[in-house]
Order: sequence, then structure tokens, then C-alpha cells
Amino acid sequence: MLLPLPVTTDPRPGTHTLTGVTTLGSDPACAGVARRLRETLSGSTGLPLPEAAAPDATVALTLDPALPAEGYRLRVRPDRISISGGTPAGVFHGVQSLLQLLPAAVYRRAPVTAGPWTVPCVDIGDQPRFGWRGCMLDVARHFVPVAGVLRFIDLLAAHKLNVLHLHLTDDQGWRVQIRRYPRLTEVGGWRAESMVGSRQHERFDGRPHGGFYRQDDIREIVAYAAERFVTVVPEIDLPGHTQAAIAAYPWLGNHPDQPVPVAARWGASRRVLNVSDETVAFFRHVLDEVMELFPSRHIGIGGDECIKDEWRASAALQRRLGELGLRDEDEMQSWFVQQFQRHLAANGRVMFGWDEILEGHPPPGATVAAWRGPALAVAAARAGHDVVACWDSSAYLDYRQSDSPDEPVPVGTVLTVADVRAFDPMPPGLPAELRHRVLGAQCNLWTEHADSPRAVDYLAFPRLSAFAEAAWSPGSAPPWDGFDERLTAHLRRLDALGVEYRRPDGPLPWQRRPDAPGWPRDRADRDAELAALTRNVRQPDGPA
Ligand code: ACM
Repeated sequence: MLLPLPVTTDPRPGTHTLTGVTTLGSDPACAGVARRLRETLSGSTGLPLPEAAAPDATVALTLDPALPAEGYRLRVRPDRISISGGTPAGVFHGVQSLLQLLPAAVYRRAPVTAGPWTVPCVDIGDQPRFGWRGCMLDVARHFVPVAGVLRFIDLLAAHKLNVLHLHLTDDQGWRVQIRRYPRLTEVGGWRAESMVGSRQHERFDGRPHGGFYRQDDIREIVAYAAERFVTVVPEIDLPGHTQAAIAAYPWLGNHPDQPVPVAARWGASRRVLNVSDETVAFFRHVLDEVMELFPSRHIGIGGDECIKDEWRASAALQRRLGELGLRDEDEMQSWFVQQFQRHLAANGRVMFGWDEILEGHPPPGATVAAWRGPALAVAAARAGHDVVACWDSSAYLDYRQSDSPDEPVPVGTVLTVADVRAFDPMPPGLPAELRHRVLGAQCNLWTEHADSPRAVDYLAFPRLSAFAEAAWSPGSAPPWDGFDERLTAHLRRLDALGVEYRRPDGPLPWQRRPDAPGWPRDRADRDAELAALTRNVRQPDGPA
């Protein structure tokens, strides 16, 4: 009944019951994992789980360098439970599997039952299909408070996901404190009001929205995630999606004499950065503080949906094009992004951007989040970049979960739990010798229409559970070894964790949003739109 499905499961006779005399021991390298396990178990079971040396402990956590780094072996016998992993991360994943073998009440923070805390005997051998198993959380459109982010990290970790991509800045808000430029959060951290429903309806709520992470908040989030083997990858979106920054510092834009507020409208703003040396320097300084806060190898610079009307109309920008010998605005976008690619590389980091960064051929060595379809993943790999698969048709958790008009703010194409489970991050048509370029996959949760952690829960779950299996488990055909049955069992765990997921038969009355009309798309419309959007991704060696 595990989710994600392990590589091998071999049931054995008998059971093991955790009791008042159960001891817990670990190799010194896994002491942190043992601490997490003790916290969870003692909270829900009330058992003391005293410490013992690993070889003598009833529950033993150890390293086995012969296993893959994130792989683990879980062995449950009537007298002993042992989890060994290639690294502490592998042991941690094994612990998540052990928790799933226990009654769902193990996920509660305090005892609600006296047990018994019984685990079926089993041998499990497991390792992930992909090293990058992530979720992008957009905290710019609607701010998610620190407590909500920490809870979200717990939920990712329980699903063996290991990357939290935080979309920290956008037209509608700037959410990370930058010491050198305090107006980014003083001015950019809130907006006067928000749209209600899709932008086509032009409805506004008249209610200010805001919030931002202080640098110590970020340090707490990053450290909390690291203890759970989740890497937080920050994104500062450039050169489009920057109206909040331009509201704070109008000289970053193309019309310093026409100040703008932080955007209240959804959708990509036409107000974008200018490409002056001062603006490049400003964002280098921003990224310096971001690198100080986030130890991740990857640093996101966005790069998506830069509307270039202002650039086409700007004499200064056209002059700059000529000076730099660039052909057009796409090449200018690429030049601009490359300034940061170099800066990040000089600091030992890798630029992570949406697939628009391919426009204008940046040098190889970036990591590309392919959101506009598998062809973009193939194009990125061919151009010498690593790839994170996250196309909208399989992985956009803001898209509507069914065809029903009752879905809260139905936008995008229909993306059911089964559709997400069917996501194969390995793009069709990718030559075998480029498969290593696919680091893995992530699901993306944009929050225009998720104005609270409750609404985030509804969009994320249980599709995120299905995504976790698509990213972890070896590919297999439907019905994916009893996925539906395993998901039903998993919903009891989500109940115990207090997750307000979408029920299989649709939203509960209070999960509907009759006040907020959506904009449902059908697949043919969306495919045509994407084909038009991606026409300008030029292929260095032939069509993808
Ligand atoms: C995106 O959806 N603009 C990456």
C-alpha cells in the first residue's frame, strides 16, 4: 500500500509491533534521521523509543555504501526493523516507507489511539528513478507564510520529493528580503488588491495582499528542508515578471518617469526590466544575497514570458542591441540572462531557468525547466543543457482537476490524478545518449487562484502524491500496480496530516469558488497556443 510504489516489495510471514520496550538506534551519520523518526513516532504513539546502539536496537538505521545514494533497504522482521541506505537521504526515504507501513494515525502529532503499532514483515528494496523530484510553489502571487512552507516541506518529504523550487518574485509581489535594496519588500512586498478569478473577467477584491520572508525566515526554511533532505531552489524571475521590482525601483524599468504599482492583475506584465549596466549590477547584487541564503547548486533566474514590446519601442535598448551586435530582442533576452549565468557560474552555481532561456542560444551548461512540452526538453538537451521535465499538460497543479464547473476557479486544461500519474518525465524522441540530461521532474503550483494554504492543499493533493510516484517509481503501465487502491489508503494518511485534498468526487461545498470565475481551456486550444509560443526556439542542430 506504499506510495510512491517501491522498486521491489517482498512480503514475509509475521508482523512486528512497536511497544514500550522498542529501542531506536542509528549510525552516527544518521542521528538526524533517527531524531526525526523519534519525533514522529513518539508524538503519535506516545512510546518512549529509548536510544540503543545500532547493532542492538529494535529499530536500526544504518548506512550501506553499496546502496545507491538515495536508495534504501527496509527489512521488517518480528524481532527487528532495519533500514539501511546509501546515504542518510536514503535512510530517510526508508523511514518514510516504514511510516507508511504503520497505521495512518502515526502521522498525527499526539496519540489518538493506543495502537497496536503493527507493521507487516517485508523486504523492500528501493531507489528513485530520478534525482530531481520537485515541486515549484509560487509564493509571489499569494504569499505562503513560513509555517505553511515548513508544513509543505514535510509533505514533500513524506512523498520522497527532494526539491522545493520557490518562485519568490513576480509582477504581483517580491517575497524575499534583500538587505541592499529594502524597497524590494517595503514597496514590492504587497499590492493594493488582487483579481478574483481569471483575468478575463476583470474582477478585483479591493483587499491588500502581501507578506515576505525576512532573511532569517529563509535560513529557517532552508535548514528545515535540509534536515528532511529537501533542497530549496530559489527563483528570482528576470527580465519579465518584474513589475514588483520596478514598482520599488522605477529606474529598473523602461519608463522611469512613469512609476507603476505592484501588479494587481494576473498574467505577465508588459512592464519589464531595461538592460542597462546598472540594472545588471542591481540583480547581480540581489543574486549575491540570494546565494548567501540558499546553498543550492541551482539558482533560478526565471526567464519566462518576457513581453518585449517595451524593448522594441525603446531607443536605448535598440542602441544597446547595435552596440552588442545582437540580431533581435530574443538575442537580447539571451544576452541579459547570460550575464547572470556567468555570475552564477563564477560562484560555483548553475543557472536554472524556464525553457524561454533557450531563445537566443545561451551557452551550454544551464538547467532548463521544460514547461511548454517535451519538445522543449529535447531542444534543451540537444543544446547541452540539463533538463527538469514539468510540462503544463502533465505537471501544472493549478490546472483544473476535472471538467466540472464546480472546480474552484477552473483554468487550463483538465489534469486529473490519473493524468499526473501517467506523466513520463523522459521525453519521447530524446536520443538515448542524451537521456542523462534529464535530471528529473517537478510539478508546478501557481497560486493566482490559491489564496490560502487550504486552497493550495486542494490543488496540490492528491495530484502531488501521483506526481511523486511518476518521479520516483520505475515506469510501468496502468493500473500502476494498484495505484487507485494505494491512493485510497494514502488519503487516510493525508487525513491524519490534516491535508484538505480534493475528494475523488469533487470539491466539498466550501472548496468551491462560485465568486471567482475561471477560464477553462481545451487541449486543442492550448496545443495551438504553445505551438505559436515555441516557434522562436531555434534548434542549433535541426528540429527537435
Ligand atoms: C510559466 O508557466 N510561465 C513558467
